[in-house]
Amino acid sequence: MKKIIITIDGYSSCGKSTLAKQLAKQLGYVYIDSGAMYRAITLYFIQNRVDWADTKAVKAALKNVTLEFNPNPVTGQSEMYLNGENVEHFIREMIVAEKVSEVAAVKEVREFAVAQQQQMGNKKGLVMDGRDIGTVVFPQAELKIFMTAEPAIRVERRFKELYAKNKHVTIEEVKENLELRDYIDANREISPLRKAEDAIILDNSQLSMGDQLELVMQWVEDAI
Ligand code: C5P
Repeated sequence: MKKIIITIDGYSSCGKSTLAKQLAKQLGYVYIDSGAMYRAITLYFIQNRVDWADTKAVKAALKNVTLEFNPNPVTGQSEMYLNGENVEHFIREMIVAEKVSEVAAVKEVREFAVAQQQQMGNKKGLVMDGRDIGTVVFPQAELKIFMTAEPAIRVERRFKELYAKNKHVTIEEVKENLELRDYIDANREISPLRKAEDAIILDNSQLSMGDQLELVMQWVEDAI
């Protein structure tokens, strides 16, 4: 069967990665979480005190950053490695979430990440989620989805996910962080979050996961 590229863009915590993982599993495709790459770069900058307002410092630091996705030996799910170290857990922490949108707005950072993302698409059979995947990374993708959900629902989902791992996080913190990231992501100069003209809007506020997958699998069949 013909293999395609599926892009999923949208606001924070709309369930993009959940849908992307389900699609990849069902179709036997590779799933790439582009946000994890920006999070890993942010973690590196924080750990190494790189000032991301300083272009020279950013360029020099990126020379020391190697990003890879490797499967978890138990779950098989792809996890983020930064310079050979599994950072999947650390990149989900609030300290990274608070800074990632600032780092992702830096031109050199985007060029670095986008070049690697485009290489991953060489073979097709790929689902990638993010903010600029349908508009900038793969403008020729066969199926583009723009996901959205009501803000209160998104806050609740992300809070539950984070609270399960860290009981100190508060719902206000999560709400503020989502609002801030969405604002920066949608208003930055380079590759702001936008719906690609040919993307299909998926508002999953009132959809069960099963219904959502069924609907999108129909779109995949239409695109193939
Ligand atoms: O998808 P996730 O919420 O993990 O992404 C974290 C952040 O990375 C986003 O808020 C955004 O600032 C940035 N990002 C981006 N472009 C992408 C994916 C993520 O700017 N393609």
